[in-house]
Amino acid sequence: MDMREQILILRRNWMLIVSFALSGLIAAAVVSVAMPKAYTASSSLFVSTQNVDTSAELQQGSAFALARVQSYVNLASKPQVLDPVIEELELNTSSAELAKNVKASTSRNTVIIEIKAVDSDPQRAADIANGVVSSLILAVADVERPTNGTPSPVRLTSVDTAQAPSAPSSPKTSLNLALGLLYGMAAGLAVAVLRNVLDRHVRTEADLRRSTSLPLLGGITESEAPKGSSAPFVLGGSGTDAFRQLRTNLEFAAVGHAMKSLLVTSAQAGEGKSTVSLNLALSMAQSGRRVLLVDADLRLPSVADATGLEPSVGLTTVLVGRTNLSDATQHWGNAGLSILTSGPLPPNPTELLASSTMQKLIGEMEAAYDVVIFDAPPVLPVADAAILTRHTDSLLLVVGARKVSQHNLSKAVEQLNLVKANVIGVVLNGIPRSGPDANSAYLTDYGAVPASPLDGEQHSGRPSSPIAEAAEVVNGDRGRNSRRKQAVKN
Ligand SMILES: Nc1ncnc2c1ncn2[C@@H]1O[C@H](COP(=O)(O)OP(=O)(O)OP(=O)(O)O)[C@@H](O)[C@H]1O
Ligand SMILES: [Mg+2]
Repeated sequence: MDMREQILILRRNWMLIVSFALSGLIAAAVVSVAMPKAYTASSSLFVSTQNVDTSAELQQGSAFALARVQSYVNLASKPQVLDPVIEELELNTSSAELAKNVKASTSRNTVIIEIKAVDSDPQRAADIANGVVSSLILAVADVERPTNGTPSPVRLTSVDTAQAPSAPSSPKTSLNLALGLLYGMAAGLAVAVLRNVLDRHVRTEADLRRSTSLPLLGGITESEAPKGSSAPFVLGGSGTDAFRQLRTNLEFAAVGHAMKSLLVTSAQAGEGKSTVSLNLALSMAQSGRRVLLVDADLRLPSVADATGLEPSVGLTTVLVGRTNLSDATQHWGNAGLSILTSGPLPPNPTELLASSTMQKLIGEMEAAYDVVIFDAPPVLPVADAAILTRHTDSLLLVVGARKVSQHNLSKAVEQLNLVKANVIGVVLNGIPRSGPDANSAYLTDYGAVPASPLDGEQHSGRPSSPIAEAAEVVNGDRGRNSRRKQAVKN
């Protein structure tokens, strides 16, 4: 995973990481509030020797005190020291229990003993620490008293009296919050990486490259669909430019053989086959070529819906001999695009598409037009597209960004290779306009795409917008078709 991919994972999943971090923070806050508060008070003692007159005795005394200090530390948690404290403070506990909350310690090579007492009440914590100091002084005097009745050679002096602490020592709220945030963020990152490993959808050009080495002929960004419509539509703005670029690249890709029939398909449903077929056909017609768009999806046709053309005549009516090709072909828009809708749905689409009548019909279409574009069903669920490759010379594979998995795309390419389809390239459709998976290279707008040498028509910087033009065309045709439907009813 390179740096670019790591940044992409962060950008795609930043919301998830932030929400995990916030959850960690909230959990830490809840735990901190729920945890019982404990206060720590500390006091200290100094260990010295007494009755010392000469410097040699002082030397000896210091060594003696140092040697004894650790024993006094241990003595501090013994019942001999703690029982008097319990009695004096009237604590409801045993010496063994109290020993868990009293800690005596000393630093190396010092004669200072620190006593720390922990309690849920700050004042009681201070009282216990001070009580242990007093009790330890007495206990040491007692245990060190020589048998001959002379005073103890060591003396413990209180050097620091414990005060009631103002803030609890536990829970450590800021530390808990910082840890909660950190662990939450780490968990979010782990889930983000896992998601990336498990999610093998084609999102970017790099993902596409992992599934296929077929040439990428174009990238179509996501456009805003007309309100309430789920049908393919004519893309305006940068979409028009993108299709012009795709058309040009197709001409380059097909150089050396005449591209008379182009089958447009995809691995699975809903990747944008019909949208690409319609827009590409329109773009080719606008460049002055005689183009026929055929809705060869005899299971889920959508061209008639998208264009508002008459759906009752089309490919199936020609195949069964009810109409001839020219009568069934309808014209759409000012660009001179011819369209053959699917016609009524047959019960046996695969057989119809595989028939010799279909082969003959395609020959007839190729003779009458410069190029015939077939909007075909997807490759993986049904055999129709694979069958149509027998009668067509080129194939364009539409890859829906974030729609198809890398695995399914590879499987579709494999199947097309098995039937020896002439796949001339792929087009990545539905690239997001913003966000981590957006690719600014495809966000071309008017004038942003360099005019291509093969591009005969004027560039889209012209004043009339293609979407307005398309809308005018669609509305015009809709009017005509509704009149036609009305006529049929009458
Ligand atoms: N570039 C795009 N920007 C915005 N919407 C798109 C784009 N491409 C396709 N769509 C929308 O996605 C949906 C599916 O597109 P389309 O019908 O073209 O896919 P399809 O592959 O032909 O589907 P099916 O397998 O059902 O025939 C439609 O609602 C269409 O408007
Ligand atoms: Mg379709």
